[in-house]
Amino acid sequence: MADTVLQTEGGSGGIVIDDDWPGYSLELFSYPAHYAGDLECVVVPHGVIMDRTERLARDIMDDLGDHDIVVLCVLKGGYQFCADLVDKIKVLSCSSDRTIPMRVHFIRLKSYLNDQSTEDLHILGAEDLSFLQGKNVLIVEGIIGTGKTLKALLKHVEAFKPKMIKVAGLLVKRVPHNTAQLPHYIGFEIPNRFVVGYALDYNEYFRDLNHICVISESGKMKYKI
Ligand code: HPA
Ligand code: MG
Repeated sequence: MADTVLQTEGGSGGIVIDDDWPGYSLELFSYPAHYAGDLECVVVPHGVIMDRTERLARDIMDDLGDHDIVVLCVLKGGYQFCADLVDKIKVLSCSSDRTIPMRVHFIRLKSYLNDQSTEDLHILGAEDLSFLQGKNVLIVEGIIGTGKTLKALLKHVEAFKPKMIKVAGLLVKRVPHNTAQLPHYIGFEIPNRFVVGYALDYNEYFRDLNHICVISESGKMKYKI
């Protein structure tokens, strides 16, 4: 069993994937042949990601419906989750009497080399976020690992004085001593292992994989820089 289950303020900490869960065998799914041998198992199949995202879109609609929001997509790892989440909010906006007018803005963060978080966080495309002043901001992140990136990003965004900031994270890792604020909307809480796929990379590889998978040791060796 997992040691800790994360809890967000007033919300769900997401679907909990335990440390001792072995994942699904790759043989049960299709995935690109060029990654044969590079992966250990499937942690979250693509269809499950989509179903969970649909529910997060509804939660966001329930909380923020009828407010204008600026979606701040954190590249590169957040692009697929952000695109699918925005799509699902759009569908809800067409089929219910509530709607969320959305603008989408992109910023790029980089802090990982191989499977390690580095101290130097680069924020690109975030130089002037003054248009966020007084706005409702939804930050969309693919994964929260150590929490350091999110902490630095929140500090950066807060300086532009938005009216409200909410964070949606598809994955949150159970990392010891993570003191960062948790996202308000969490897809899955996962073990502290390096995962790839669904836009999450290892040195820029594996973004072209639909499922979220654990990378194998030989995969790490093959794409190491
Ligand atoms: N995979 C890809 N990118 C990441 C991860 C991970 O497990 N943790 C933090 N950034
Ligand atoms: Mg990365």
